[in-house]
Amino acid sequence: MVLHIANVLNSEQVRRCRAALDAADWRDGRVTAGYQSGRVKHNRQLAEDDPLARELGTLVVDALSRHPAFFAGALPRRIYPLLFNRYEDGESFGFHVDNAVRYDRSVQPAQPVRTDVSATLFFSEPHEYDGGELAIEDTFGTHRVKLPAGDLVLYPGTSVHKVEPVTRGARIAAFFWIQSLVRSDAQRRLLFDLDVSIQHLTQKLPDAPELVQLTSVYHNLLREWSDV
Ligand code: NI
Repeated sequence: MVLHIANVLNSEQVRRCRAALDAADWRDGRVTAGYQSGRVKHNRQLAEDDPLARELGTLVVDALSRHPAFFAGALPRRIYPLLFNRYEDGESFGFHVDNAVRYDRSVQPAQPVRTDVSATLFFSEPHEYDGGELAIEDTFGTHRVKLPAGDLVLYPGTSVHKVEPVTRGARIAAFFWIQSLVRSDAQRRLLFDLDVSIQHLTQKLPDAPELVQLTSVYHNLLREWSDV
């Protein structure tokens, strides 16, 4: 499932983050890539232990924790600390798949995080740059994603994806991974669809007794499928 979550950050938060990111200490992005993806990765990143990355990462995770659509779509168990990247002057990241497990070294001992869900949060507005689409392959074809600043896309960690060359301006984004309570993308999708249907029914028919039954189906499926 590819899920667009709008307005994770408001325009004031985006403006403050951008001001800090425009003055940040950008490094060669290959430091966090594996061997194969390092050969196709051309961009810049903040160091994982850069205090600015930690500060902005905390701000975004706080915002996500108040966003019901993020919870419904990702069913988060662990969130890998946010990384920040910047593409300009023709930089790109060719087709690759993200490492299945990453080690969060911000805690001791380092904590493994299975990358069930990949996430990108945009800090540049689409009109500020040409190219730079996130292209995600799935069985339906290729999704090409370029979102307003402050918006997030979630996509399966299992998917092959790339970032198109940026031919004008700069594309600044945060990217990170979520270990979900539910490992399977297909099961997360079913739970998400059921959750959204229950929310809509609750607005239309708040007193319908069937809502209790449907809600119990949701929670019992989550109990069946989750590992905590
Ligand atoms: Ni990737």
